[in-house]
Amino acid sequence: MKTYLVTGGAGFIGSNFVLRERSNAKARIINLDLLTYAGNLMNLQSLDGDKGYVFVRGSIGDRKLVRKLLDEYRPCGIINFAAESHVDRSIDGPEDFIQTNVVGTFHLLDEARHYWEALPEREKSQFRFLHVSTDEVYGSLEPDDPPFREDTPYAPNSPYSASKAASDHLVRAYHHTYGLPTLITNCSNNYGPRQFPEKLIPLMILNATSGKPLPIYGDGLNIRDWLYVEDHCEALSLVLEKGKPGEMYNIGGRCEKTNLEIVKTICTILDEIFPDSPHVPHESLITFVKDRPGHDRRYAIDCSKIENELGWKPKESFETGIRKTIQWYLDNPEWVESVQTGEYREWISRQYGGESIG
Ligand code: NAD
Ligand code: TYD
Repeated sequence: MKTYLVTGGAGFIGSNFVLRERSNAKARIINLDLLTYAGNLMNLQSLDGDKGYVFVRGSIGDRKLVRKLLDEYRPCGIINFAAESHVDRSIDGPEDFIQTNVVGTFHLLDEARHYWEALPEREKSQFRFLHVSTDEVYGSLEPDDPPFREDTPYAPNSPYSASKAASDHLVRAYHHTYGLPTLITNCSNNYGPRQFPEKLIPLMILNATSGKPLPIYGDGLNIRDWLYVEDHCEALSLVLEKGKPGEMYNIGGRCEKTNLEIVKTICTILDEIFPDSPHVPHESLITFVKDRPGHDRRYAIDCSKIENELGWKPKESFETGIRKTIQWYLDNPEWVESVQTGEYREWISRQYGGESIG
């Protein structure tokens, strides 16, 4: 059986990926995660006792630890999810983003190179380093601009997207210079189970169900492309298996929506589920707040390369995916409670200037 080293596997997308890989017992997974505020072992509780899964707490920037794991478990691939991932936090304090996303990725990449160079020829040709990145590296689109393609020039606007762009460049350079078989994926906004509730969709679901304000930045007309997390994970498996080393693949849902549309959809579904709630209509909770500094106006992804070359297509529409997502948050109150503790409350208070929003 194949072994993969997954980094950041206790976070939102990483945990969905690990659960998916283990559910079909396709590969043994070694999960290296620092467990920052965004990492949550409850995400992976169902793997307790699974002999094909190993959890190690630590940083991708800890070279000695990374080297030890590579030597001990001899993976045939690394999937790098580990990152600081929240744009607003990167504006509040960019330092951790540089340390993890840039310096950390560099250390991981360099250890991967040394390990890969010493592999026997057959294993060497099969090894892959898959770096999970974002569409935000391409910057912001005007309303009539065509969607981002793999050859769209990078123009990151936030400390988060700049740090991701820097790490993408390092990965690219390691392929070009050393021949390391790298793959980069640039995906649009994900939503689904296990997303930390400071991101738009879970924040709105949880605030609306408890009658708290729904804070919309600026005029609410910023556009994002949305993809259900399991569709992203399937795309990643496919890229890992069939992607061409050195290539980039854009991944998206062909699902552009304004933030206001997203929030109104969530409110309408909650009105349906809880017709007797005192918060009906949930839309009345919408509150326009100060805009995010440097807020990108629009992201859109042209994913025809992965569709045409690897045969990927998302299974979930926004209408079905958002219902599943809402239901998951309603069905998992212990999870919600476990993540809404100290550090998270402090962040909410810094970000929105009071305790009432989150
Ligand atoms: P997340 O914040 O939920 O999870 C990140 C995980 O990385 C956490 O478990 C955290 O503990 C871990 N981590 C942080 N620093 C670490 C370090 N130094 N060493 C080891 N582990 C560390 O993020 P996510 O939303 O799951 O995103 C995963 C990846 O996908 C990120 O690289 C992100 O840039 C990218 N991405 C996210 C989205 C999205 O919409 N969420 C879209 C496209 C790409
Ligand atoms: P977010 O989930 O932080 O993802 P990203 O910034 O990576 O796209 O935000 C998605 C969109 O929602 C973005 O345009 C900012 C907006 N937003 C709000 O309007 N209010 C909020 O409270 C949050 C967290 C985000």
